[in-house]
Amino acid sequence: MNTNVINMRPLHWSDIGAASALEVRLFPRDPWSVEQFWSELAGVPSTRWYEVAESPTGIFGYVGLYAVPGGDADVQTLAVDPEQQGNGIGRQLFADLLAEVERRGCPRVFLEVAAENERAQRFYKQFDFERISVRRDYYGPGFDAHVMRRGDDS
Ligand SMILES: CC(C)(COP(=O)(O)OP(=O)(O)OC[C@H]1O[C@@H](n2cnc3c(N)ncnc32)[C@H](O)[C@@H]1OP(=O)(O)O)[C@@H](O)C(=O)NCCC(=O)NCCS
Repeated sequence: MNTNVINMRPLHWSDIGAASALEVRLFPRDPWSVEQFWSELAGVPSTRWYEVAESPTGIFGYVGLYAVPGGDADVQTLAVDPEQQGNGIGRQLFADLLAEVERRGCPRVFLEVAAENERAQRFYKQFDFERISVRRDYYGPGFDAHVMRRGDDS
């Protein structure tokens, strides 16, 4: 892939269709609905922040954040098209998310990740997240989530 043609920009309403299609491919067990994306975008910029990775052929990645200035933040979602994974896009999107966390003055960031998603867990550890607990059946019966946190434990 020619990384020169990648543009990072805010998620627009018109991206929701493409994001939902990617969602079904990446999270077949519990994809976000179009309505969930609309509801999330309604919170931008007061409590939400969303960014997409775009090429001339369309969007192929997105990241979302819940963050009230000064409060704890939550990673809402992170996704990169399977055909574009391993090219540094996830890292770029996530670095932008953490910069937004910084701008909003949030001391801690939390996220949930599927227990079997070891690759994503490794990815988050590289950004100084650590596992703090397990939520049993978070994604449905038999599908646990690991809760990870970045920042102090107070
Ligand atoms: C997790 C995810 C967002 C990472 O995005 P990505 O664009 O593939 O990641 P990057 O190319 O920026 O790589 C960042 C790190 O991920 C890991 N990684 C990337 N490609 C990898 C591969 N093929 N195999 C194993 N690890 C890999 C590496 O640790 C890499 O670090 P490095 O640059 O030091 O090698 C992406 O894999 C994804 O969308 N997965 C499916 C959805 C998902 O699990 N989202 C998270 C839900 S909580």
